Amino acid sequence: MANDDVSTADGAAEAIADGGPGGPPSAMAWTRHAWQSAPRQPVNLRTDQPHSARMYDYLLGGKDNFPADRDAAEQALAGFPHLRTATRQNRAFMTRAARYLAADVGIRQFLDIGTGIPTSPNLHETVQDVAPDARVVYADNDPIVLAHARALLTGTPSGRTAYLDADLRDVEAILAAPALRDTLDLDQPVALSLIAILHFVPDEDGPYSLVARLLAALPSGSHLAISHGTADFDAAVGGGAAPAYRARGVSAAPRGREAFVRFFDGLELLEPGVTLAHRWRPDGPIPADLTDAQVSCYAAIARKP
Ligand SMILES: C[S@@+](CC[C@H](N)C(=O)[O-])C[C@H]1O[C@@H](n2cnc3c(N)ncnc32)[C@H](O)[C@@H]1O
Repeated sequence: MANDDVSTADGAAEAIADGGPGGPPSAMAWTRHAWQSAPRQPVNLRTDQPHSARMYDYLLGGKDNFPADRDAAEQALAGFPHLRTATRQNRAFMTRAARYLAADVGIRQFLDIGTGIPTSPNLHETVQDVAPDARVVYADNDPIVLAHARALLTGTPSGRTAYLDADLRDVEAILAAPALRDTLDLDQPVALSLIAILHFVPDEDGPYSLVARLLAALPSGSHLAISHGTADFDAAVGGGAAPAYRARGVSAAPRGREAFVRFFDGLELLEPGVTLAHRWRPDGPIPADLTDAQVSCYAAIARKP
């Protein structure tokens, strides 16, 4: 990227106007409307400051990051050298969880908050591969994710995808967003996907209340999927990596098992219950040299009764 000012709303409108592979006319109509009603102001990516989305992109081997992000990620790696492994295992969990929810549970609607920079396979690609009519609403508060949202709006002709430039801490704005209401039928089950985002929401921002309020808007049969960094297996997560994030202005709050389980209060945990990301319904044998300490990320999915 040549400079850090990106006219994201305009860029997104162009992305919609040029169609994007397979975008259905009906979805295009509302999507175009949603973008066109957005304020068209240049968004400063603040490349001088690290952002968690770009640090994550760097850790995954992506190219949508800047020196400040790489420097912060390297500092976090110095504090917790397995962070790349943890990141990859988290992303693999996201894919398995989405596929399971679509293929085995039969969910056709997904609300993914804290989407991150597009990284193939994205959630909509995974679930629409199983069910082409699946609908996905993405949301993230990072302008760089908005700038790349074009890659998230390439749904199948029979499905729909939408993107919200929104903050998890503003639940009411997410639930009221016209693009969400146009895409998801909140009378039908929805999978709420909060993958590797809640550890960026400190207790003072009320993460349990945020999750509970989102779930309150979803009907019985909806599901909640969460992954979350933890220092339970390696103190370096809490003593090395998290302070490296916080020192650069990125809040990071790894939580222990009890605090993680609390997100699922009142829900029915699916098998295998609360576990580590790599142990949640793995596709094959877990490599003998992949340890819980390296992954250091809790994962679980539960059903709303
Ligand atoms: C580590 S990435 C995870 C990306 C993806 N969910 C995955 O697991 O592969 C965390 C994402 O959450 C987003 N994020 C952090 N805090 C957020 C908030 N309060 N509201 C919305 N998005 C947020 C960041 O911008 C980033 O894109």
